[in-house]
Amino acid sequence: MKYKACLFDLDGVLVDTAVYHFQAWKILGKHFNFELSHEQNEELKGISRVESLDKILHWAHFQATQEQKGRWLKEKNETYLELISHMNPSEILPGVISFLDQLKEQGYLIALGSASKNAGIILEKTGLTTWFNAIIDGNVVTKSKPDPEVFLKGAEALGCPATACIVFEDAQAGIDAAKAGGMKVVGVGSPTILRGADKVISSFTELQVSELLLL
Ligand code: G6P
Ligand code: MG
Repeated sequence: MKYKACLFDLDGVLVDTAVYHFQAWKILGKHFNFELSHEQNEELKGISRVESLDKILHWAHFQATQEQKGRWLKEKNETYLELISHMNPSEILPGVISFLDQLKEQGYLIALGSASKNAGIILEKTGLTTWFNAIIDGNVVTKSKPDPEVFLKGAEALGCPATACIVFEDAQAGIDAAKAGGMKVVGVGSPTILRGADKVISSFTELQVSELLLL
C-alpha cells in the first residue's frame, strides 16, 4: 500500500467546533471592545489558545497584563466548554463516518493531530474516540502548527514514516505543518483560502479512499 496512515485534524475537519471557538472569542472580545471578523477567525484556526489570544490582543491594539491574559484564557475556555457541552454524534461533519469506515476496511491506521486541549472531550461526546489508533492533542505537543510536531508525533505513535502518511486539515497552519513534516495533505475547505495542499475537498462526501492513491 502506497500510504499506511491518515492523520486528522479535529476542529473543522471531523466536527465543526470552529463555530464554537469563534463564538467564545467574540464573547471574550467584549472585555476590550473587540469584534472578531470571519477573516481574522480564519487565522486562528489550528493555532493554540495562548497564541490565539495574543493575536486577538494584537489586532485589538490592547496591552494586557499577564494576570488579565491568564484570566481571559480561562474565561474563554469556560465559555467554549459550555458551548460544546451539548455536542453529540449529529455534529460529525458529512461523509466523515463513511470515510473512516472505508479507511478501517482497507487497513489504514488512523490518528488525531489536533492543537486542542479539549480534543478528548469532543471525541467522547461525538462518539469518535474508538476510531483512533493514536490521539495526539494540545496536551502532548509543545510547538503549535505550522510546526510539524503534532503530525510527526502521530506518525511515530502509529509506527509509520512521514512519507506514508496523509494529513487532513482545514487550517493553513495545519497544511503548512503537514508539508513541513514531509507528508501529503488534503485540505478541507475552499481552494481559494487553502494554499499548498495536494488536493482540496469541500467535504468528505466528495472523496473516496481509493482516490488517495492519486496523491
Ligand atoms: C484547534 C482550533 C483552534 C484552537 C486550538 C486550541 O486547533 O482550530 O482554533 O485555538 O485547537 O483549542 P483549545 O480547545 O485547546 O482551546
Ligand atoms: Mg482545524
